[in-house]
Amino acid sequence: MKSGHTGFVMAVPQGLRLASVLLLVSSGLHCSSSLPACPTSCSCQRASLLNCSSAGLSSVPNHIYDSVIGLDLSNNLFSSVTLHRPHHKLRSLWLGNNTIPHLSLCIERNLEGRHLRGRRRLRPWSRLGCVTWAPTLQLLSVERNQLEKLPEGLESIDSLEVLQLSFNRISTLQPADFSPLRQLKELHLQHNLITSLHPQMFQDLVQLKVLDLSFNMMTSLHPHMYLTLRNIGADVRLGGNRWQCDCSLRSLRRRMVYDSTRGLQAWNMVCASPSILSGQDLLQLAEDDLNCFSGENSPELHQDVTVYSGSEILLSCSAEGNTVQIM
Ligand SMILES: *[C@@H]1O[C@H](CO)[C@@H](O)[C@H](O)[C@H]1NC(C)=O
Ligand SMILES: *[C@@H]1O[C@H](CO)[C@@H](O)[C@H](O)[C@H]1NC(C)=O
Repeated sequence: MKSGHTGFVMAVPQGLRLASVLLLVSSGLHCSSSLPACPTSCSCQRASLLNCSSAGLSSVPNHIYDSVIGLDLSNNLFSSVTLHRPHHKLRSLWLGNNTIPHLSLCIERNLEGRHLRGRRRLRPWSRLGCVTWAPTLQLLSVERNQLEKLPEGLESIDSLEVLQLSFNRISTLQPADFSPLRQLKELHLQHNLITSLHPQMFQDLVQLKVLDLSFNMMTSLHPHMYLTLRNIGADVRLGGNRWQCDCSLRSLRRRMVYDSTRGLQAWNMVCASPSILSGQDLLQLAEDDLNCFSGENSPELHQDVTVYSGSEILLSCSAEGNTVQIM
Protein backbone atom coordinates (compact mmCIF):
# COMPACT_ATOMS: atom_id res chain seq x y z
CA MET A 1 0.00 0.00 0.00
CA LYS A 2 2.79 2.41 0.96
CA SER A 3 4.87 1.69 -2.13
CA GLY A 4 1.77 2.01 -4.33
CA HIS A 5 1.20 5.46 -2.91
CA THR A 6 4.79 6.53 -3.58
CA GLY A 7 4.47 5.24 -7.15
CA PHE A 8 1.46 7.43 -7.64
CA VAL A 9 3.26 10.53 -6.36
CA MET A 10 6.21 9.84 -8.62
CA ALA A 11 3.91 9.77 -11.61
CA VAL A 12 2.46 13.29 -11.15
CA PRO A 13 4.20 16.35 -12.56
CA GLN A 14 6.76 18.07 -10.30
CA GLY A 15 4.66 21.16 -9.37
CA LEU A 16 1.69 19.12 -8.27
CA ARG A 17 3.80 16.87 -6.07
CA LEU A 18 5.19 19.85 -4.15
CA ALA A 19 1.68 21.17 -3.55
CA SER A 20 0.50 17.90 -2.06
CA VAL A 21 3.47 17.73 0.35
CA LEU A 22 2.86 21.28 1.57
CA LEU A 23 -0.75 20.41 2.22
CA LEU A 24 0.26 17.44 4.38
CA VAL A 25 2.65 19.55 6.44
CA SER A 26 0.25 22.41 7.05
CA SER A 27 -2.68 20.23 8.04
CA GLY A 28 -0.58 18.29 10.60
CA LEU A 29 -3.52 16.12 11.62
CA HIS A 30 -3.25 14.04 8.49
CA CYS A 31 0.39 13.19 8.88
CA SER A 32 1.25 9.86 7.34
CA SER A 33 3.77 7.56 9.00
CA SER A 34 6.53 9.04 6.86
CA LEU A 35 5.77 12.58 8.04
CA PRO A 36 4.98 12.39 11.76
CA ALA A 37 4.08 15.62 13.50
CA CYS A 38 5.71 16.04 16.90
CA PRO A 39 3.11 16.87 19.58
CA THR A 40 3.72 20.17 21.39
CA SER A 41 5.77 19.85 24.64
CA CYS A 42 7.34 16.63 23.40
CA SER A 43 10.60 16.02 21.63
CA CYS A 44 11.06 13.84 18.59
CA GLN A 45 14.79 14.02 17.99
CA ARG A 46 14.79 10.45 16.87
CA ALA A 47 11.81 9.58 14.71
CA SER A 48 11.30 6.36 16.62
CA LEU A 49 11.27 7.94 20.12
CA LEU A 50 8.52 10.29 21.19
CA ASN A 51 9.74 11.84 24.41
CA CYS A 52 7.15 13.74 26.46
CA SER A 53 8.94 13.30 29.78
CA SER A 54 8.60 16.15 32.33
CA ALA A 55 6.31 18.13 30.05
CA GLY A 56 3.66 18.97 32.67
CA LEU A 57 1.07 16.95 30.75
CA SER A 58 -2.12 15.67 32.31
CA SER A 59 -3.51 13.97 29.21
CA VAL A 60 -1.89 11.91 26.50
CA PRO A 61 -1.09 13.90 23.32
CA ASN A 62 -3.59 13.21 20.55
CA HIS A 63 -1.30 12.55 17.66
CA ILE A 64 0.82 9.59 18.67
CA TYR A 65 2.11 8.51 15.28
CA ASP A 66 2.06 4.91 14.10
CA SER A 67 5.80 4.51 13.62
CA VAL A 68 6.59 5.26 17.28
CA ILE A 69 8.80 2.60 18.87
CA GLY A 70 9.52 4.28 22.21
CA LEU A 71 7.09 6.50 24.09
CA ASP A 72 8.29 8.31 27.21
CA LEU A 73 5.45 9.82 29.25
CA SER A 74 7.25 9.72 32.60
CA ASN A 75 7.34 12.57 35.15
CA ASN A 76 3.99 14.08 34.25
CA LEU A 77 0.61 14.49 35.87
CA PHE A 78 -1.24 11.57 34.31
CA SER A 79 -3.86 9.84 36.39
CA SER A 80 -4.73 7.56 33.50
CA VAL A 81 -3.17 6.65 30.18
CA THR A 82 -4.75 4.95 27.23
CA LEU A 83 -4.27 4.90 23.46
CA HIS A 84 -7.29 4.39 21.27
CA ARG A 85 -5.92 2.08 18.61
CA PRO A 86 -3.22 -0.59 18.48
CA HIS A 87 0.32 0.71 18.01
CA HIS A 88 2.02 -2.19 16.30
CA LYS A 89 5.54 -0.81 16.50
CA LEU A 90 5.51 0.35 20.11
CA ARG A 91 8.20 -1.56 22.00
CA SER A 92 8.96 0.61 25.03
CA LEU A 93 6.61 2.64 27.19
CA TRP A 94 7.71 4.71 30.19
CA LEU A 95 5.02 5.96 32.59
CA GLY A 96 7.06 6.34 35.80
CA ASN A 97 6.44 9.20 38.23
CA ASN A 98 2.83 9.89 37.45
CA THR A 99 -0.22 9.36 39.68
CA ILE A 100 -1.88 6.46 37.88
CA PRO A 101 -4.10 4.37 40.19
CA HIS A 102 -5.34 2.01 37.47
CA LEU A 103 -3.78 1.23 34.10
CA SER A 104 -5.63 -0.59 31.33
CA LEU A 105 -3.76 -1.85 28.30
CA CYS A 106 -7.03 -2.74 26.60
CA ILE A 107 -8.81 -0.59 24.06
CA GLU A 108 -11.91 -2.58 24.70
CA ARG A 109 -12.84 -5.68 26.50
CA ASN A 110 -15.04 -8.36 25.11
CA LEU A 111 -17.02 -9.34 28.16
CA GLU A 112 -17.95 -12.61 26.50
CA GLY A 113 -14.43 -13.61 27.52
CA ARG A 114 -15.67 -13.89 31.07
CA HIS A 115 -17.94 -16.75 30.21
CA LEU A 116 -15.37 -18.99 28.63
CA ARG A 117 -14.88 -22.37 30.20
CA GLY A 118 -12.15 -23.47 32.56
CA ARG A 119 -9.72 -21.24 34.30
CA ARG A 120 -10.42 -18.32 32.00
CA ARG A 121 -13.55 -17.80 34.00
CA LEU A 122 -11.34 -16.85 36.91
CA ARG A 123 -9.60 -14.20 34.87
CA PRO A 124 -11.97 -11.45 33.77
CA TRP A 125 -9.31 -9.93 31.53
CA SER A 126 -8.61 -13.05 29.64
CA ARG A 127 -6.53 -12.93 26.52
CA LEU A 128 -9.61 -13.11 24.34
CA GLY A 129 -11.39 -10.43 26.31
CA CYS A 130 -8.80 -7.71 25.82
CA VAL A 131 -7.99 -5.93 22.58
CA THR A 132 -4.77 -4.22 23.54
CA TRP A 133 -3.30 -0.95 22.27
CA ALA A 134 0.24 -2.20 22.87
CA PRO A 135 0.38 -5.63 21.22
CA THR A 136 4.17 -5.72 20.71
CA LEU A 137 5.39 -4.07 23.90
CA GLN A 138 8.71 -5.33 25.28
CA LEU A 139 9.32 -2.84 28.09
CA LEU A 140 6.63 -1.42 30.33
CA SER A 141 7.70 0.88 33.12
CA VAL A 142 5.07 2.16 35.55
CA GLU A 143 7.19 2.66 38.65
CA ARG A 144 6.35 5.30 41.25
CA ASN A 145 2.63 5.51 40.60
CA GLN A 146 -0.39 4.54 42.68
CA LEU A 147 -1.26 1.17 41.16
CA GLU A 148 -3.16 -1.13 43.48
CA LYS A 149 -3.37 -3.91 40.91
CA LEU A 150 -1.36 -5.16 37.99
CA PRO A 151 -2.13 -3.39 34.71
CA GLU A 152 -5.34 -4.70 33.17
CA GLY A 153 -4.77 -6.75 30.02
CA LEU A 154 -1.16 -7.53 30.93
CA GLU A 155 -1.65 -11.15 29.91
CA SER A 156 -2.37 -10.05 26.33
CA ILE A 157 1.17 -8.76 25.90
CA ASP A 158 3.18 -11.92 25.53
CA SER A 159 6.10 -10.05 23.97
CA LEU A 160 6.88 -8.35 27.29
CA GLU A 161 10.49 -8.72 28.47
CA VAL A 162 10.84 -6.08 31.17
CA LEU A 163 8.07 -5.14 33.56
CA GLN A 164 8.88 -2.37 36.05
CA LEU A 165 6.19 -1.85 38.69
CA SER A 166 8.20 -0.79 41.74
CA PHE A 167 7.00 1.82 44.26
CA ASN A 168 3.27 1.22 43.85
CA ARG A 169 0.59 -0.16 46.17
CA ILE A 170 0.08 -3.59 44.68
CA SER A 171 -0.99 -5.99 47.41
CA THR A 172 -2.31 -9.13 45.77
CA LEU A 173 -1.17 -11.22 42.83
CA GLN A 174 -3.23 -14.03 41.31
CA PRO A 175 -1.56 -17.39 40.55
CA ALA A 176 -1.84 -17.07 36.74
CA ASP A 177 -1.16 -13.34 36.44
CA PHE A 178 2.25 -13.74 34.81
CA SER A 179 1.89 -17.17 33.19
CA PRO A 180 1.34 -15.93 29.61
CA LEU A 181 4.43 -13.69 29.77
CA ARG A 182 6.85 -16.37 28.61
CA GLN A 183 9.40 -13.85 27.36
CA LEU A 184 9.65 -12.02 30.67
CA LYS A 185 13.25 -11.48 31.75
CA GLU A 186 12.92 -8.84 34.44
CA LEU A 187 10.11 -8.35 36.90
CA HIS A 188 10.47 -5.43 39.32
CA LEU A 189 7.91 -5.41 42.13
CA GLN A 190 10.00 -3.91 44.91
CA HIS A 191 8.41 -1.44 47.33
CA ASN A 192 4.82 -2.65 47.02
CA LEU A 193 2.45 -4.21 49.57
CA ILE A 194 2.56 -7.84 48.48
CA THR A 195 1.81 -10.18 51.37
CA SER A 196 2.13 -13.61 49.77
CA LEU A 197 2.93 -15.51 46.60
CA HIS A 198 1.22 -18.56 45.18
CA PRO A 199 3.77 -21.42 45.02
CA GLN A 200 3.30 -21.88 41.26
CA MET A 201 3.17 -18.22 40.38
CA PHE A 202 6.43 -17.88 38.43
CA GLN A 203 6.91 -21.42 37.21
CA ASP A 204 6.20 -20.64 33.52
CA LEU A 205 8.67 -17.78 33.38
CA VAL A 206 11.62 -19.78 32.13
CA GLN A 207 13.42 -16.70 30.79
CA LEU A 208 13.30 -14.84 34.08
CA LYS A 209 16.65 -13.36 35.07
CA VAL A 210 15.70 -10.77 37.68
CA LEU A 211 12.87 -10.96 40.18
CA ASP A 212 12.85 -8.10 42.64
CA LEU A 213 10.37 -8.53 45.47
CA SER A 214 12.30 -6.59 48.08
CA PHE A 215 10.50 -4.25 50.50
CA ASN A 216 7.10 -5.90 50.42
CA MET A 217 5.03 -7.40 53.24
CA MET A 218 5.76 -11.09 52.76
CA THR A 219 6.05 -13.26 55.86
CA SER A 220 6.63 -16.71 54.37
CA LEU A 221 7.80 -18.42 51.21
CA HIS A 222 6.75 -21.81 49.90
CA PRO A 223 9.63 -24.26 49.26
CA HIS A 224 8.12 -25.02 45.81
CA MET A 225 8.57 -21.37 44.86
CA TYR A 226 12.15 -21.53 46.00
CA LEU A 227 12.88 -24.63 43.91
CA THR A 228 11.25 -23.19 40.80
CA LEU A 229 13.17 -19.94 40.89
CA ARG A 230 16.39 -21.65 41.84
CA ASN A 231 16.03 -24.00 38.86
CA ILE A 232 15.31 -21.13 36.48
CA GLY A 233 18.43 -19.47 37.84
CA ALA A 234 16.81 -16.08 38.43
CA ASP A 235 18.47 -13.40 40.55
CA VAL A 236 15.89 -13.12 43.34
CA ARG A 237 15.80 -10.15 45.71
CA LEU A 238 13.80 -10.54 48.91
CA GLY A 239 15.36 -8.07 51.35
CA GLY A 240 13.21 -5.81 53.49
CA ASN A 241 10.23 -8.16 53.82
CA ARG A 242 8.56 -9.32 57.05
CA TRP A 243 9.90 -12.84 57.20
CA GLN A 244 8.40 -14.67 60.09
CA CYS A 245 11.02 -17.18 61.10
CA ASP A 246 8.88 -19.90 62.60
CA CYS A 247 8.42 -23.62 61.98
CA SER A 248 6.82 -22.95 58.56
CA LEU A 249 10.24 -21.96 57.21
CA ARG A 250 12.03 -25.10 58.38
CA SER A 251 11.79 -26.97 55.12
CA LEU A 252 12.80 -23.91 53.10
CA ARG A 253 15.79 -23.30 55.34
CA ARG A 254 16.93 -26.89 54.96
CA ARG A 255 16.91 -26.62 51.15
CA MET A 256 18.67 -23.28 51.20
CA VAL A 257 21.39 -24.55 53.51
CA TYR A 258 21.89 -27.57 51.26
CA ASP A 259 22.18 -25.32 48.20
CA SER A 260 24.50 -22.84 49.85
CA THR A 261 26.93 -25.63 50.72
CA ARG A 262 26.91 -26.39 46.97
CA GLY A 263 27.73 -22.76 46.29
CA LEU A 264 24.35 -21.69 44.90
CA GLN A 265 23.13 -18.12 45.29
CA ALA A 266 21.91 -17.28 48.81
CA TRP A 267 18.67 -15.32 48.96
CA ASN A 268 19.46 -13.38 52.11
CA MET A 269 16.18 -13.76 53.94
CA VAL A 270 16.48 -11.75 57.12
CA CYS A 271 13.95 -12.49 59.87
CA ALA A 272 11.63 -9.71 61.02
CA SER A 273 9.97 -11.81 63.68
CA PRO A 274 9.82 -13.27 66.29
CA SER A 275 11.61 -10.43 68.02
CA ILE A 276 14.23 -12.77 69.42
CA LEU A 277 15.36 -13.64 65.86
CA SER A 278 14.79 -10.24 64.30
CA GLY A 279 17.69 -9.17 62.09
CA GLN A 280 19.12 -12.67 61.74
CA ASP A 281 19.67 -14.39 58.43
CA LEU A 282 17.50 -17.48 58.03
CA LEU A 283 20.50 -19.45 56.80
CA GLN A 284 22.44 -18.76 59.98
CA LEU A 285 19.73 -20.22 62.21
CA ALA A 286 19.45 -23.77 63.45
CA GLU A 287 16.35 -25.83 62.80
CA ASP A 288 15.49 -25.66 66.50
CA ASP A 289 15.36 -21.88 66.33
CA LEU A 290 12.33 -22.03 64.02
CA ASN A 291 9.46 -22.64 66.37
CA CYS A 292 5.75 -22.06 66.35
CA PHE A 293 4.99 -21.39 69.96
CA SER A 294 5.56 -17.72 70.46
CA GLY A 295 2.30 -15.95 71.21
CA GLU A 296 3.57 -12.78 69.59
CA ASN A 297 3.72 -14.37 66.16
CA SER A 298 1.04 -17.01 66.19
CA PRO A 299 -2.11 -15.32 67.38
CA GLU A 300 -4.13 -18.42 66.52
CA LEU A 301 -2.08 -20.44 69.01
CA HIS A 302 -1.97 -17.77 71.62
CA GLN A 303 -4.53 -17.64 74.34
CA ASP A 304 -4.66 -15.59 77.51
CA VAL A 305 -6.22 -17.40 80.42
CA THR A 306 -6.70 -15.81 83.82
CA VAL A 307 -6.74 -18.22 86.72
CA TYR A 308 -6.86 -17.77 90.46
CA SER A 309 -4.01 -19.09 92.48
CA GLY A 310 -4.76 -22.50 93.83
CA SER A 311 -7.29 -23.39 91.10
CA GLU A 312 -6.79 -26.17 88.55
CA ILE A 313 -6.76 -25.53 84.78
CA LEU A 314 -6.82 -27.88 81.84
CA LEU A 315 -4.82 -26.78 78.76
CA SER A 316 -4.90 -28.48 75.39
CA CYS A 317 -1.42 -29.08 73.97
CA SER A 318 -2.28 -31.26 70.97
CA ALA A 319 -0.44 -29.39 68.22
CA GLU A 320 3.11 -30.59 67.70
CA GLY A 321 5.74 -28.31 69.17
CA ASN A 322 3.30 -26.42 71.39
CA THR A 323 4.64 -25.07 74.62
CA VAL A 324 2.74 -23.56 77.46
CA GLN A 325 4.29 -20.55 79.07
CA ILE A 326 3.08 -19.72 82.53
CA MET A 327 3.76 -16.15 83.56
C1 LIG B 1 13.47 11.79 27.53
O1 LIG B 1 14.03 13.05 27.85
C2 LIG B 1 14.51 13.16 29.18
C3 LIG B 1 14.90 14.60 29.42
O2 LIG B 1 15.50 15.13 28.33
C4 LIG B 1 15.64 12.18 29.37
O3 LIG B 1 16.14 12.26 30.70
C5 LIG B 1 15.11 10.78 29.11
O4 LIG B 1 16.16 9.84 29.22
C6 LIG B 1 14.51 10.69 27.70
N1 LIG B 1 13.86 9.40 27.54
C7 LIG B 1 14.37 8.39 26.83
C8 LIG B 1 13.60 7.13 26.80
O5 LIG B 1 15.41 8.47 26.21
C1 LIG C 1 11.10 9.74 39.37
O1 LIG C 1 11.44 10.72 40.34
C2 LIG C 1 12.50 10.32 41.18
C3 LIG C 1 12.64 11.37 42.27
O2 LIG C 1 12.21 12.60 41.85
C4 LIG C 1 13.76 10.14 40.34
O3 LIG C 1 14.84 9.75 41.14
C5 LIG C 1 13.51 9.08 39.26
O4 LIG C 1 14.61 8.96 38.42
C6 LIG C 1 12.28 9.44 38.46
N1 LIG C 1 11.93 8.32 37.59
C7 LIG C 1 11.81 8.44 36.28
C8 LIG C 1 11.34 7.26 35.54
O5 LIG C 1 12.05 9.49 35.69
